[in-house]
Amino acid sequence: MVARRDLMMGAAAAAAAATTTVVNAQEAEAKDVSLGLDPYATPWDPQDPEIPGRMNIARVPDDYFMPGRFAGKTVIVTGSARGMGEVAARRLAREGANVVGVDILEKLGASVIEQIRAEGGKATFVGGDVSEDKVCEEMVRVCVKEFGQLDGAINNAGVMDALHPDEPIDYVNQKNRLMARITEAGDEYFDRVMKVNVWGVFYSLRHELRQMLKQGTGGSIVNIASVTGIRGFGGTAPYTASKHAVQALTKSAAIDYAPFGIRVNSTGMGTTLTPMYERAIEIIKQRRAAGYKDTGIALYKSKSLLEFSDQKNKGSTAAEQVAVMLFLLSPESSNITGSTYNTDGGFTIF
Ligand SMILES: NC(=O)c1ccc[n+]([C@@H]2O[C@H](COP(=O)([O-])OP(=O)(O)OC[C@H]3O[C@@H](n4cnc5c(N)ncnc54)[C@H](O)[C@@H]3O)[C@@H](O)[C@H]2O)c1
Repeated sequence: MVARRDLMMGAAAAAAAATTTVVNAQEAEAKDVSLGLDPYATPWDPQDPEIPGRMNIARVPDDYFMPGRFAGKTVIVTGSARGMGEVAARRLAREGANVVGVDILEKLGASVIEQIRAEGGKATFVGGDVSEDKVCEEMVRVCVKEFGQLDGAINNAGVMDALHPDEPIDYVNQKNRLMARITEAGDEYFDRVMKVNVWGVFYSLRHELRQMLKQGTGGSIVNIASVTGIRGFGGTAPYTASKHAVQALTKSAAIDYAPFGIRVNSTGMGTTLTPMYERAIEIIKQRRAAGYKDTGIALYKSKSLLEFSDQKNKGSTAAEQVAVMLFLLSPESSNITGSTYNTDGGFTIF
């Protein structure tokens, strides 16, 4: 624990030297936030009579961060208006990074960046659709104009269907644009999911990598995939195909750019409590109400090992996912490239 405290104080000093989020880093030291991780586990309450001594795994606290870890580094986060992208953008800024947030939800995205700035972070926002090459070109251009360079990126923007991310759900009238098995899936559903999840990551990578090559200082990129990127999944074939493609882009980019000091990894997350998840639950509810006996998605298996073992069956939190994204983004993961971290609570092991 003493060694960890020394490390953190060193990181805070580095942040101060780089004149980034000094205030936040000092505050963190004062409040001991960086040392505030919960214990590994907490007892079931009330106890499970079937399994004496049963425990819940303690989750990473939502406000946990490591002061100064990204001091002086500039990172692009796509899909930064809400969900995991928002949590990543906020935590990166607290850890000293200059953040470029990108989102199609322009008003919400801009307000998140405003809040980051109000807390003393350095951040800027680019509104737009990552499935358009010119938007990805623009996000890198703004990044270099504002902060001089690009060191890392989290290509996180993604969709599970052809709806606009904040379009109200109306299952019966939107059926051919929503997640479905192949025999029911509409062309628009397949097209949009591929356009955002695959082309969006491709365009993002293309412009990010070009800039990193130009700089000649290496870098680290994390693409957000899914457990559906390595396994088949019920009722959502186009999404599953798109996330397999994200894994393929990740591995290929890792091979091509390792000689230039650029690492490219991905995360394969399972159910995570975000607005996307809430929307999926609403679609399933409306699908059932429309007379479908099966739930489509998650017909055979939906819960991870950790969801089953959690007393409240709670899914992964955005903070848990972001903890791994930022580890992969940081130089601490120097030995990892082209890999997928299955941040899935054990979903894929059984
Ligand atoms: N939540 C889960 O259970 C889960 C599981 C596996 C993988 N994922 C993946 O994680 C990533 C983040 O998901 P989330 O749960 O935070 O979703 P979310 O819908 O809560 O947030 C996604 C963000 O991306 C933005 N976005 C969507 N399309 C965009 C576009 N074309 N251009 C720019 N921005 C766009 C949205 O506006 C939103 O702010 C996605 O790639 C998703 O596929 C999520």
